[in-house]
Amino acid sequence: MELIKRPRRLRGSEVLRKMVRETRVDKASLIYPMFVKEGSGIIEEIPTMPGQYRYSVDTCGEILLKLQDRGVNNVMFFGIPDHKDEVGSGAYDPDGIVQKALRKARKDFPGMYLITDVCMCEYTSHGHCGVLCGEYVDNDRTLELLAKTALSHVEAGADMVAPSDMMDGRVLAIRKCLDEAGHVTTPIMSYAVKYASAFYGPFRDAAGSAPAFGDRKSYQMDFHNSREGIKEALMDVEEGADIIMVKPAMSYLDMVAKVKEAVKVPVAAYSVSGEYAMVKAGASLGYIEEDRIVAEMAASVYRAGCDIYLTYFAPEIARMIDEGRIG
Ligand code: PBG
Repeated sequence: MELIKRPRRLRGSEVLRKMVRETRVDKASLIYPMFVKEGSGIIEEIPTMPGQYRYSVDTCGEILLKLQDRGVNNVMFFGIPDHKDEVGSGAYDPDGIVQKALRKARKDFPGMYLITDVCMCEYTSHGHCGVLCGEYVDNDRTLELLAKTALSHVEAGADMVAPSDMMDGRVLAIRKCLDEAGHVTTPIMSYAVKYASAFYGPFRDAAGSAPAFGDRKSYQMDFHNSREGIKEALMDVEEGADIIMVKPAMSYLDMVAKVKEAVKVPVAAYSVSGEYAMVKAGASLGYIEEDRIVAEMAASVYRAGCDIYLTYFAPEIARMIDEGRIG
């Protein structure tokens, strides 16, 4: 047999496979999303996200310590307030839950990189991502409150803010507000390409943020669309976004690849709660092998072009990197 080209040559051993690997997964690019809740002494498992917990400010150090030990240095905070109202005032309260968690984490974990999700839906009584005008989410009035929220996060110690509301013009509004307050060096990671997705189901249970009526389709994107996502990404870069995020991840890797081509800033992908829940459910039934699935999902995100990966599996991925099973 005269075969000159034999792709299998490069697959002959683990050492060689690792040498020629095209995609590297590293801990420095992982971000772990976590939930902080009002109260004390709380470490409560989220029923639809087994292995993920809601922490109160006094207990969240436990998970931060674990992350630090594993070499995961970056976290994203979501807040679960005690009180919700029409205008989501808990989001921009200087003593709001995220602000308190930030101050505590900043003090106890000075080396950690603290990112916050900037949105109203966990704080509004109606569960929408902005203030309402009738049943419509009022874009321009919401911008002011988002900017106020972002500023209060930065003042409480956030290193980076990540608006996830999908209002038009929010990146510019936040950038201007931060700059006017002197925070010109604080980066904005925009959830620019965020689809209206059923994959957020478990998150809404976790954060109690499901909309009381209707859905989020008037602000989050239609999942049939691709070019619209590029438009969103380009607009947010124009408005000053430093990092562009695609969300969810697994069913949207085409968008990761396209956005990576279209923009010249780092690209992040968020493997959301539904992706986590599916893996956990499948694994608990014995239908799939959790670790191997998690490793493949992670590598695929980077292979598609991501620079940054937000995932509830960040500690497990870090462990697998240490074990030499992915990397
Ligand atoms: C807030 C927000 C959501 C998620 C991140 N930020 C929920 C939503 O848009 O309904 C989802 C995260 C996840 O599912 O893991 N708007």
